[in-house]
Amino acid sequence: MNPKNKSPETSHSSVREYFQGDTLKSYTHSKSMMHIQEKMTLRILQLSGAEPPALILDLGMGAGFSSVPLYMRGFTIIGMELLWKMLIEYPISELNPIAGNMMHLVFRENLFDYIFSVSAFQWTYRHKGSFELIRFDEFAKSLNMILKIKGVLVFQLYESSESILDMIYSVFIRHGFSGKYILDNPQSKKKRKTYLYLRKVKSI
Ligand SMILES: C[S@@+](CC[C@H](N)C(=O)[O-])C[C@H]1O[C@@H](n2cnc3c(N)ncnc32)[C@H](O)[C@@H]1O
Repeated sequence: MNPKNKSPETSHSSVREYFQGDTLKSYTHSKSMMHIQEKMTLRILQLSGAEPPALILDLGMGAGFSSVPLYMRGFTIIGMELLWKMLIEYPISELNPIAGNMMHLVFRENLFDYIFSVSAFQWTYRHKGSFELIRFDEFAKSLNMILKIKGVLVFQLYESSESILDMIYSVFIRHGFSGKYILDNPQSKKKRKTYLYLRKVKSI
């Protein structure tokens, strides 16, 4: 495959390597990225059925494009982002940004009503471009722990491999969640969007 046709997470060894310099600036200053992130966030909101007031954790919040529309609708947000440079582009202190790795969550039990993630999750299971579900059991366990019972998690992710999607799904099902994938525009390669919807059905 021509490397130009590869997605950033398969053609770069890590998210840190990809989002730096001009790439980071052009992402954080792009009106179309802002719009796309907002659109997907509103779809996530619809799928989750969330109504304010509620506490939402936004994993991989980037510059805040996904958190802002939630905040504007009356939700309380805690955002987590690996790259601190993403967090200093805009005045987003009301979104309670935390610089940290979503694979190492340090919140108390049963805290969040909802956990969302927009266009970030696919970075977490790749190492040097290859698929690796490292620490995934721990990740699913900690998501289960910090979410309230019957709380909902919705992740939008860029992943075209059905076998990878199945593996991810089965990890969550083993760790107290029940749910499904929702595919929007499945026929269109360009417009297709994948959402993983999970409800916490038991504490583990
Ligand atoms: C395409 S951006 C989308 C960000 C965000 N939804 C927005 O509205 O701007 C994906 C983000 O996920 C972050 N990310 C990737 N892996 C992460 C991890 N393990 N922990 C926290 N953030 C991560 C990246 O640094 C990047 O800022």
